[in-house]
This record gives sequence, C-alpha cells and structure tokens, in this order.
Amino acid sequence: MEKQRLATLTLDDGRSIELPILSGTLGPDVVDMRSLGKLGVFTYDPAFFATASCTSAITFIDGDAGLLYYRGYPIEQLAKQSDFLEVSYLLLNGDLPTVAQREEFDSIITHHTMVHDQLARFFNGFRRDAHPMAVMVGVVGALSAFYHDSLDINNPQHRKISAHRLLAKVPTIAAMSHKYHIGSPFMYPKNKFSYVENFLYMMFGTPAEDYVPNPVMVRALERIFILHADHEQNASTSTVRLAGSSGANPFACIASGIAALWGPAHGGANEAALKMLEEIGDVSRVAEYVQGVKDKKYRLMGFGHRVYKNMDPRASVMRETCYEVLRELRLENNKLFELAMELERVALSDPYFIERKLYPNVDFYSGIVLRAIGIPTNMFTVIFAVARTIGWVSQWNEMIGDSEQKIGRPRQLYRGSAQRDFQPIEQRG
Ligand code: CMC
Repeated sequence: MEKQRLATLTLDDGRSIELPILSGTLGPDVVDMRSLGKLGVFTYDPAFFATASCTSAITFIDGDAGLLYYRGYPIEQLAKQSDFLEVSYLLLNGDLPTVAQREEFDSIITHHTMVHDQLARFFNGFRRDAHPMAVMVGVVGALSAFYHDSLDINNPQHRKISAHRLLAKVPTIAAMSHKYHIGSPFMYPKNKFSYVENFLYMMFGTPAEDYVPNPVMVRALERIFILHADHEQNASTSTVRLAGSSGANPFACIASGIAALWGPAHGGANEAALKMLEEIGDVSRVAEYVQGVKDKKYRLMGFGHRVYKNMDPRASVMRETCYEVLRELRLENNKLFELAMELERVALSDPYFIERKLYPNVDFYSGIVLRAIGIPTNMFTVIFAVARTIGWVSQWNEMIGDSEQKIGRPRQLYRGSAQRDFQPIEQRG
C-alpha cells in the first residue's frame, strides 16, 4: 500500500498538526484540512483562491494550460463532434451513451419539454419589462411546487427524474420569459425538432407561420450550449451545491444557481460585453475606451478569467464559430462587429492586457454570436442558464450521492465588536 503523504502545519506557539496530502486523477494535490479544527484554528480563504470545496469527477480545468475536459473528454472534441443532448447525457451519467441509451434519453427529454399549464400564470405576475433573468429565478424556483411526486432527494430515481425535467423544461421557461417580455403568445414545444431547434422555435416561432430553423443558427447555438454546459466549481455551481447541501429540492437549488449566474462578473458578462460594445459605438472610439480601461475607470467586459490565465479553450472554439457565423450571415461589415474585432485585436496586442493575461473570454464571442443570430441582449444570460442547467444538476446529483456529503458551513474571521453591554436609549451618547 502506498504511504500516506503528509503536510505539517506548525503554529507560532509551537503546536503542530499533520495533514494528509490527497491526489486527484489530474490537477494539483490538495492538503486535507478537515482535522485542522483540532488545533482550534481555521483557514482563511474568502474567495476560494486556494480551497477545493468538494471532490468531483465531472469537469476538469487547467487554467494555465488552457484545458477543459467534461468527464475526461476535451471540450474541443465535444464541441466539434458531439451535440448538446449527448454532452448532457455524458455530464449527468459519466459516459457517452450507446445508440439505444441515446435514443431513450432523447425521447425522455423531448417528452418532458412541456410545462404544467398553470405555470404559465406565474408570468402574469411580472411586469412586461421585467428582466428575463428575474422571471427565470422565480419561475424555475416555482417548479418545486409542481412535482411533489419526485422530490425525495435521497432516492436516486427521483433525482434522475428531476434532472430530466430540469433539462427539458428550462428552455421552455426561458423562451416563455422572452415571449412574455415582447407580448407574443407562448409557443408550445414541438417534438419533431431537436433540442436546439425546438428552443429556437419556441423563441422565434409564431402560431401564424411555419417555422423553419436556420442551420447556421442551430449549429452556433448548439456550440454555445455545449461550451457553457459545465465549468467546475464556479460561483453559480458552488451556490447550487451549497443550497443543495441543506437538502433543498433540486428546482430551488437550480433557481439559486440562476440568481448567482446573473451577476456581470459571471454569466451576466455576455450581456455586459454587448452593452459595452454599444456604448463604445464606433471603431474610432476603441483607443479612447481602452485607455479608460488602463486608467482603471472600468473593465473590459468579456475579457479575463479567474481560472484561465491562458486563452480560454471555450473562447478559441467560440471565436471560430463567431467568424463562421458573421461570414455566413454576411455580417462582417456590420459596424458593431467591426468594432468588436478591433477591440479583440487591440486587447491581444496591447502589453497591458498581455501582462495581465487578459484574453477575450467565451462570453465576449458568445455575446457577438448571440447578437448575430438575433437573440435579444437581455436573453444572453438566460441562454447561459439554459446551457448550464445540466452542469448544475449533474453537480447537485453527484453531491447528494456522495457519502461524505454534509451541509456546507464555512467559518469566518470575526472582526466586529467584542462583547459590550446594552445601554438604554436615553443613556447613549
Ligand atoms: N478589464 C480590465 N482589467 C482587468 C479585467 C478586465 N476585464 N479583468 C481583470 N483586470 C485586471 C485587474 O484590474 C487587475 O489589474 P491590476 O493587477 O493592475 O490591479 C488584474 O487584471 C487582475 O484582476 P483580478 O480582479 O484580480 O482578477 P480576477 O481573477 O479576480 O477576476 C474576472 C476575474 C472574470 C472577475 C475579471 O477578469 C473580470 O471582471 N472580467 C470582466 C467580466 C467577465 O468577462 N466575466 C466573465 C468571466 S467568463 C464566464 C464565466 O466563466 O462566468
């Protein structure tokens, strides 16, 4: 048997503890800090720069090398050779499906795409101009109230049904949030379409006309979905895990993930990037805008990443798709896209960005692609949420099935007042 490797931590008062060093399949070793409490001290790592919060077998990132694997498969291979439903099966179940498994999975997901008709009434409670992400947080959370038959999180079969329902119904709710916003009738799903075609149909179809999916749009969205499907223990996934660790039901957990995704430093970046391009307005203003970034007046949205300090592999694939879509839709000479390409050129050649390893990230390119295929800006983060749902639910399922699973409960470094005595109001100075 291999000898357990140990790290020794010694405090300034001489007390020390030996901590096991654990190795994963890939990636850096980790020091198991769980017994540190015996010394009466904790670690302090507020934004999780150096803390693994769980064990996982789903996604692996090497930020320095620019690698991303889902269940061991490089993202480039999946983006080019697979499709979103197959990738979803892989994330959820651990392996790629056989033909029979694939057919069964497609059929299950297709036949779960409709939502309870009463769910449609939730939309009327929202203002028409509500941000679709606000609607998503509310309506996806509301699914908890509809499926009492399968909410036993300790039953693997119930967890599976919930995962299927979420994967199938979140696109329907997302498209409904768009239709509600623009005042158009909701479109019921159509089973003759693929997952991505159906989403586009529910977004852009109308009862008045037949809808024929555009293959350029289908291919581009398929890629966006695959590239955003999972990304290790990011802010929204960690939120889902933390919410789920208390035993909350999966629909509530996914709603919490949607809320966390909304922020501009995370899933809101694609929308923020597009708004930034609109604010810059013209190629002639790029230099001036970049100077403002260097003067730290604002950040370049869609650039930089906490983990990737090399080109984000998703961004490389998305960049290809971006150029392909602009070419096929004959949009290369569009003012906004010209501007985006100039910003990309400047950022990739300017020492300020090179030194800080601030490459364009996946959201810079996906924002451009989404705009090119006609998705409204306020739906960008919703699209991210649709794609990430399978990642969230796979991570949640893995966590609940983990025998070491306990409620998440970070500690703190308290820096408030020491104990003091209450004074009646008339005695306070
Ligand atoms: N524009 C300009 N400067 C930047 C940017 C940016 N987008 N990002 C980081 N910097 C600078 C920052 O000012 C700092 O400079 P200095 O060393 O001179 O103080 C240095 O780079 C390091 O920044 P940091 O804030 O310590 O980096 P971080 O790892 O905490 O931040 C980030 C990561 C993604 C929050 C950040 O890069 C950012 O705000 N980017 C814009 C938002 C964005 O595009 N987010 C989407 C990320 S990809 C989608 C996802 O996976 O959710």
